This record gives sequence, C-alpha cells and structure tokens, in this order.
Amino acid sequence: MDRLSQIRLLIEAEMAGLPTERHDPSQGLPLQVVSFGADEVTAALECMLTTWVTMGPKVREFEAAWAKWCGASHGVMSNSGSSANLLMLAAMVETGRLQRGDEVLVPAVAWSTSLFPVQQCGLVPVLVDVHPDTLCMDPAAAKAAMGPRTKAALAVHMLGQPTRVDALKELGLVVLEDACPAPGAEIAGLGRAGSMGHAGSFSFFFSHHITTVEGGITVTNDAELANAMRSLRAHGWVREREDKSVWEKKHPEIDPRFLFVSSGWNLRPTEMAGAMGLIQLGRLSPWLERRRENHRHWCELLAPLAPKLRCFPMRPGETHAAFSFAMLLQKGIERAPVMAALESSGIATRPISGSNLARQPAFERVPGARVGGPLPVADAVHERGFFVGNSHAFHAGHGAILASRLQEILS
Ligand SMILES: Cc1ncc(COP(=O)(O)O)c(C=O)c1O
Repeated sequence: MDRLSQIRLLIEAEMAGLPTERHDPSQGLPLQVVSFGADEVTAALECMLTTWVTMGPKVREFEAAWAKWCGASHGVMSNSGSSANLLMLAAMVETGRLQRGDEVLVPAVAWSTSLFPVQQCGLVPVLVDVHPDTLCMDPAAAKAAMGPRTKAALAVHMLGQPTRVDALKELGLVVLEDACPAPGAEIAGLGRAGSMGHAGSFSFFFSHHITTVEGGITVTNDAELANAMRSLRAHGWVREREDKSVWEKKHPEIDPRFLFVSSGWNLRPTEMAGAMGLIQLGRLSPWLERRRENHRHWCELLAPLAPKLRCFPMRPGETHAAFSFAMLLQKGIERAPVMAALESSGIATRPISGSNLARQPAFERVPGARVGGPLPVADAVHERGFFVGNSHAFHAGHGAILASRLQEILS
C-alpha cells in the first residue's frame, strides 16, 4: 500500500463518526451537516503534499466541470460567492456590457453581497419587491421600478427557488443570476441556474450544498466576459485569459508574466478548493434529490398549520434547489418567540437572509441606491419570515420533529 493510501485510511478512521450522509434527528436540525469526508480531505492534502497549493490544474478542471454541469461554456472560480458576484458585475462594466451609472434591479430580499457589488462596480442598485409565492424578484414589481437608465436585473434565486428569469428578459433587461444558494435550480425550457441569464454566480461556502470551505464560481457563455473575470480575479494580469497571446503580441516590450491589462483584485481560490470541488460535484445530483424530497415532504407536513404558518412549495415547471426551508408566519404572530422555541428544541433558525435590505442600516451607506416601489412582501419577510436548515443528510425523521414542534408552538 502506498503512503497516501495509508494516510487516507487514517483520515477515514479519524472522520468515521461524522454524519456526512445520514444525520440523526435526535440531534435536532442544524443549519447544515458537514458535507465533506475522507475523499475531500485526502484530495486537499494531496495538493499540499505535492506543494501545488495555488490555483492550478485542479481549479481549471473544476471550472470546466462545473460550467458543463450548469450548461454554460466558461467557469471562473474565486474565493467566495460574494467574489463571484463582484467579478460578474465588474466584468459586465469592464467589457462594456453595462455602463457605469446604469441601474440594476436587485430583489429587496437578498444577501448583503448580492447588493453591494452592484454599487462597488459603479452601477446603481434599485430595490424591487419579491413575489409572495417565490420570495424572488417579482417581475411585475420589476416592470414598475424600471426607469430610462435601468438596464439589468440581478435575479437572486432565494434559498434555492429559481427566479422567473424569462419574465425579466421579456422586460428587455440583461439578467444576471445570483445562484449562490441554488445549484441545480431550473426553469423548464430555460435551463439550469447559471445558464439562464448572461452569467451566474455560485457559493461553495461550508454550509452550502457542496463546499470547498470558502469558494465561489461565475459561469457564462460569453467568452469575453470570462476573460475579463480572469484578469479581474488576479491582479489584472493576462495570465489566465484565453486571449492572452493577442495581448502578448500587442505588447512585446512587456514581460508576459507581468503584463497587466485591466484593473483587478486578488480573489483567487486555492488549488485545495479546486480538488475538493471536483469530488463534491460528483455527489451533488443525488444530494439535491434528497433535499428536494425533504422540501416536498415538509411542505405536506406543515400544510395543516396554514394560515398561521405558510411554506413555499415547489411550483410546476420549476426545479427548486432546496437550500434552506423558508416559512412565513401569519400577521399578528410574533416571530421571535417561535424562533426561540425552535432553537430551544435544537432546531436552528435564521431570518430569511438580509430580509428587507432597504431596512438594513447598510442600505443608507450604498450611494445612489433607490427603492423602486412599495415593498410589502419584503416587509412581511422582514417581520415574520424565517428559515430552518435542509440537508442531503436529513430524512423523514427530521420532518416529523419539525412538524410536531411547530404544531405545539403554534397551537
Ligand atoms: C444569495 C447569496 N448571494 C451571495 C452569497 C455569498 O456567498 P459567500 O458566503 O460564499 O460569499 C450568499 C451566501 O449564502 C447568498 O445566499
């Protein structure tokens, strides 16, 4: 047996107790169950042992595999989903697809780093209400919020629910997807998240469907956009661009190793992240099915609690990525005691992401941002919405515990 196989056996023994595939509901419902095991740790360790730890062939292989899985041609991996959003928006400006000062519609219910990169790239965010059945941008509210400078929409697929990208495109908007919580979300006839709009971002943070610890990726069919993201991701240099030979020929007097062609940051992932991602991607499809099964089952179990509590069943023609399980309490029922009672039973809860971002103190610090119209659904989410975790390692037992606890709390 070679030494790496021996090390792998030790890692397997060390990690044997982790509930990677099946979690015991008597432990409650955590927000996430650890999703990596000996394969991922060995793959990451192998990178360290070979000493190729900075972005290299594993990241490139993962980028190609992830883009293919989404139905897109190019993938640019970065160190987080937030970075993937930043690269996507910055590249839209860098390539002239959007102009500084253009307005970008952003759903009022989203994550903070769905919103901030819009302004950070010189664009103007306009907050739009979400649809009461999806908690994603409402196309009717989007239409009402549009002005002469509105050019694009950032479709945030909230907690795995796909946004109606088709309806936003019909408004003449360039659609970008924040699919950080929604790998495998799909709209019939349009394709998978990430390939429905001009570009789409994903997060591989520890608590997501699959993880590279920290990590993200942006996918697109636009080769020029992908090249711009490759420079923006790494110092503005030419190295990872597919058109680098064109630039090098144009500037023969500059050493191509230090040829800088755009503005940039350092948002690169490590090679360990690429190696983990390759293994995790192989697990994703069956894990998504289990998450969806939980989502379907929990909606059925909780249906009798309406109208005190409503959940968000999957809709025909749409495939949910079942990231976390959102619920909304009836007006008049206070959210804090319900969440506290769940927490005291070992059921972890959170507000629905940033809830109404217009009500977050940070919103006042986003220069130029405006609210595009009334936000009644975002307000309801802000006051009465919450979610609990879902996981491929959860099963019917978790649904039973959640339902019986909610029944007790709300009766
Ligand atoms: C919609 C959305 N966008 C962006 C992010 C940020 O991803 P990351 O934590 O990898 O930066 C998240 C994180 O969950 C998210 O839900």
